[in-house]
Amino acid sequence: MAESNTDTKSSNQMWGGRFASGPDAIMEEINASIGFDKKLFAQDIRGSIAHATMLAHQGIISAEDKDKIVHGLNTILSEIESGNFEFSRRLEDIHMNIEARLATLIGPAAGRLHTARSRNDQVALDFRLWVKEELEKTEKMLTGLIAAFLDRAEEHAESVMPGFTHLQTAQPVTFGHHCMAYVEMFGRDRSRVRHAIEHLDESPIGAAALAGTGYPIDRHMTAKALGFREPTRNSIDTVSDRDFAIEFLAIAAITGMHLSRLAEEIVIWSTPQFGFVRLSDAFSTGSSIMPQKKNPDAAELVRAKTGRINGSLIALLTIMKGLPLAYSKDMQEDKEQVFDAAESLELAIAAMTGMVRDMTVNTARMKAAAGSGFSTATDLADWLVREAGLPFRDAHHVTGRAVALAESKSCDLAELPLADLQAIHPDITDKVYDVLTVEASVASRKSFGGTAPSEVRKQIAFWRARN
Ligand code: ARG
Repeated sequence: MAESNTDTKSSNQMWGGRFASGPDAIMEEINASIGFDKKLFAQDIRGSIAHATMLAHQGIISAEDKDKIVHGLNTILSEIESGNFEFSRRLEDIHMNIEARLATLIGPAAGRLHTARSRNDQVALDFRLWVKEELEKTEKMLTGLIAAFLDRAEEHAESVMPGFTHLQTAQPVTFGHHCMAYVEMFGRDRSRVRHAIEHLDESPIGAAALAGTGYPIDRHMTAKALGFREPTRNSIDTVSDRDFAIEFLAIAAITGMHLSRLAEEIVIWSTPQFGFVRLSDAFSTGSSIMPQKKNPDAAELVRAKTGRINGSLIALLTIMKGLPLAYSKDMQEDKEQVFDAAESLELAIAAMTGMVRDMTVNTARMKAAAGSGFSTATDLADWLVREAGLPFRDAHHVTGRAVALAESKSCDLAELPLADLQAIHPDITDKVYDVLTVEASVASRKSFGGTAPSEVRKQIAFWRARN
């Protein structure tokens, strides 16, 4: 798709009536958006076909002109799709590029398409349609990621790993339970996506420049034709609102933050020091100098993409925050932020889904790590409360002394001889050893949402039913 940049100083064919000359080269450069908004060509053509059809239905243009317009627009659609369309920077944006080409193709009838609309409602429409499709795509991709996690969670409902707080060993959990934590996060992200689709499901076309129009248009008809629930209710708000784009970016930022935390865990887990997971060859890279290396580049890039997405959100919030109602040209800067964030988000979700599906989980390493660092100390304290009737605070203190002793002997809690434990508290019996294993620890945590395999399986069933 070539872009021409002729130096002609003739005035604009769309609005040049009151202009004696064309724009300065710099004006043209700062003003043009065709370089990025050409991405909206399909939405622009869909919107124009719906608009022209409505105009004819309402008797505002003739059926004959409408047919010419629709035919011409379909021709343009195939020209653009097949790469046979010459985009021109002189024509500023996608709307005027298409309209100018329509005039060449069908002559004066093309001039009737812009009746009862403005580029302000036109761009609001095109961009909303685009963001809506992107949200629908995101929803599907999140469903895929959730499905990948559900499979891994099912497979590892019993696999014990250390649970961390402050990245210090806290209590044993199962890998299945850890996977299900991400299912909850991405599930919330997906429901945010669904809400955003509901919010933006109103058709802007017919708001015209900002005040509506005197032509007897039917906005309900265009809304329906374009798959919107209803038309927007305030023409001023319609052309000045970019909430739908900001909401997309906010959701992308939150989802990105979740993806980035997961990426960080994968980076940590795949180090030789942790060795909890091994990434597949398909999702890692080697080093050009160190033959032993297998680097988690995909995870690192997912982590980095999040920075970009956050940047886009802040950029658009900043672009919009000082604008008086209604439309200002500042708003043209909305698109690149959203396009860039959408590309980053799609890539990040896809790469993460692949990594989660493909990675090999080293359950032996996880289990060994789960048993170190006195991870069952809370179980010992709970046993003292339950079996010896100690108040929890006293049990905590007794357990602390047992941990200190084990530490001084460089052994684990379960390896302390009974005599040592009884020297710390006489009511301890050999039954205590039953709760000091990591398996007993996780199996005991049957509270709703807890890490016991039986509980994790319930949560998996819950999500399977709604995924
Ligand atoms: N290219 C413009 C944009 O993206 C289209 C709307 C132009 N409207 C105007 N009044 N200049 O915002």
